[in-house]
This record gives sequence, C-alpha cells and structure tokens, in this order.
Amino acid sequence: MRLEIETFENFLKKPVKERLSYYEKEERLYHIMRSQQFSLEFMEKLFDTADLIKFITRKPNGVEFLHALLKHKRAMLYFTQPSTRTFLSFLSACQIVGMSGGEVRDPSLSSEIKGETQEDGLRTISSYFDLIIMRDSKAGFSEYMAYLLDLTGRSVPIINGGSGKDQHPTQALLDVYTLHRSFQDRGGISGKTYGFVGDLLRGRAVRSVIYLLTRYSDLEMYIVAPPSLQIAPDLEEHLTENNVKIHKTDQLDEVLPYLDSLYMTRVQDEYDLSGESSIIDYSKFCLTPKNIGLMKKDAIILHPLPRRKEIDPVLDSDPRAMYWRQLRNGMYIRAALLLYLFKMEHRLVDY
Ligand code: NCD
Repeated sequence: MRLEIETFENFLKKPVKERLSYYEKEERLYHIMRSQQFSLEFMEKLFDTADLIKFITRKPNGVEFLHALLKHKRAMLYFTQPSTRTFLSFLSACQIVGMSGGEVRDPSLSSEIKGETQEDGLRTISSYFDLIIMRDSKAGFSEYMAYLLDLTGRSVPIINGGSGKDQHPTQALLDVYTLHRSFQDRGGISGKTYGFVGDLLRGRAVRSVIYLLTRYSDLEMYIVAPPSLQIAPDLEEHLTENNVKIHKTDQLDEVLPYLDSLYMTRVQDEYDLSGESSIIDYSKFCLTPKNIGLMKKDAIILHPLPRRKEIDPVLDSDPRAMYWRQLRNGMYIRAALLLYLFKMEHRLVDY
C-alpha cells in the first residue's frame, strides 16, 4: 500500500484495523502500538523468552551473556508524560540486554522550546538511535510518528509506552504475563472470571489488558466502575464481538466472591476537564481489610500502579496481592520484547 503524508488529525480518522498493518514488517511486529497486535502465539513465545531471561539473570555469567546480546543497539526513552515504572523497567530492560540509551523527559529542555515540532524532534532522535520508546498524552501520536518515520525512510521501531487515555500495550503484556504465571498450574487464563475496577473509561492500562485478554476463550468479566467511568463503547463492542460474558455494575462487594482475578485502578483525574471526578465517591471502588474477606482464597489481585487509596497497603502482605511481582515481571517481559524486536530471542538457547 502506498502511504501519503497525512496530518495527525486525518491519520486518526483511519480505522484502527487498517492502521495495524502499518506496524508489521516481514511478517513480524515492527512497531509496538496496541495490544490488539499481539497474537496468542506471539505471547506464548514472549512469555517463554521472559521466563528464560529471568532464569539466566540469576547467574553472573548469565548477566554477562545477556549484556552482550544487544550491546550494539541504542534506545531513546522519550517520555513527555510522567512515569515511574514504565520508564524504569524499560531502562532496566535495556540494561539487561546490553543496550545503551538516552532520555528526553522534559521537552522544555529540548529545541521544542524554540518552536520545533515534536515530529521534527522525533525525526532527529531516529537519526541517532535504533529504537524509540515513547509516552505521550495524545492518543495515536506514537502511531502517527511510526507512520511518518516509515514515510521518511528513516524508520526505527517505536514502542508505545502509553498514549493518553487510549493504549499501553506493554503494560497489557506484563499483566497477561503475570496472569499466565499465576494460572499456569490452574488450567491457564481461559475459562476464568475477571474483575476490573475503577476508572475503566480513561485508564489506558486497563483498557489495553481487557483488549488483550480477548485472545483467550471462555471468559467472564465483571466491569465495576462508577457509571460515569464505565468502559467506552469501542471496548464494549470488542468484548461482545469476542463472546466475552460481561456484567457491568458499580457494586464491588457483590462481585468479589466470583473473581479469579481482580484488577484495581486509580481514578485518572489528570484527564478531568473541570474536576468532575472529585465528586465521585471512590471509596466504593476500594479493596480493604474488610471486603478482601469476600474474595476466593486463591484469587489474585493486580494493579498497574501507581495506587492511591484503592488498595489498603496493609493488604500488600496478603498472598493474593500480586502487584509488586507484576511490576517486576514488567522488566523481564520488556527485555524479552527488546530481544524480539532485534530478532535476537533465539540466541538465548546458546546459554
Ligand atoms: C499506568 C499508566 O501510566 O497508564 N501506570 C503504569 O504505566 N504502570 C497506570 C496509571 O497511571 O494509573
């Protein structure tokens, strides 16, 4: 397909399904933009790679072996929205596989302050680095950059590390990787009952993981949110198309006994237009020492973090609390993704 230069606004009018084909090269994923890009087969291989990396990093000679794999590659972390875990786990993942890199976190220190467009800034980065990992507040902007750089012929892979309220595909990977590890000896991810709680309208992490879970079969989902923060129509349509049995509610305590997995989220009030979420009683969407007693003994609790009051910190020592392990899994899955993008994952068997 011949591509024409489009404005960002026009680019966003293209259907998502059409855009997805731009992000592949030679039948492999090239840019990582949306969780709908990941097939079951891709995930299974990536999870095996992450397991191997985790195992290999336990030994000093393993650490050295991994360092050598991508020593010749450099990554730019371009994060214009705040980040702790995604930034640090990508940085650590780069270090695990030996990549060096640079970072832009405050555009006011770049030539953007002189009036340079973000597009030109990123084009400059693509001339110095082999990979761009980026987070931006505009939905679809990393996709647009991937498309623009491909047109200029100076394309490098771009990983979307969070695009506004829309997507966070690598968070979805680490979430599903955590579910995969947790349910490995219990029949796997299919056939289980999942609960998602909180700001399901604007939380890109929770949106992305819900999209990704539809790769599995026979799922039941309880979608628990204040009415004004319920899932958006695109996601609901996707769940229906994929035969997921869904129940939308705002009564958390009523659904807790049914869940195999509970995914908590914070209110995303940075996207408020005029403080509208401050009037929501979010205490009904919190896990406490009291209502955790309603949950199954072997359920697991996830949270993309950062948290506010949705999970009382005294619950961190409960064996069902998986969120600290979940963020650590993020580092291994991201290291696996780096090896995949540079076609190096097969080298692990050399160890
Ligand atoms: C999430 C994000 O930035 O979307 N955090 C993360 O990447 N782990 C969730 C959030 O900010 O609430």
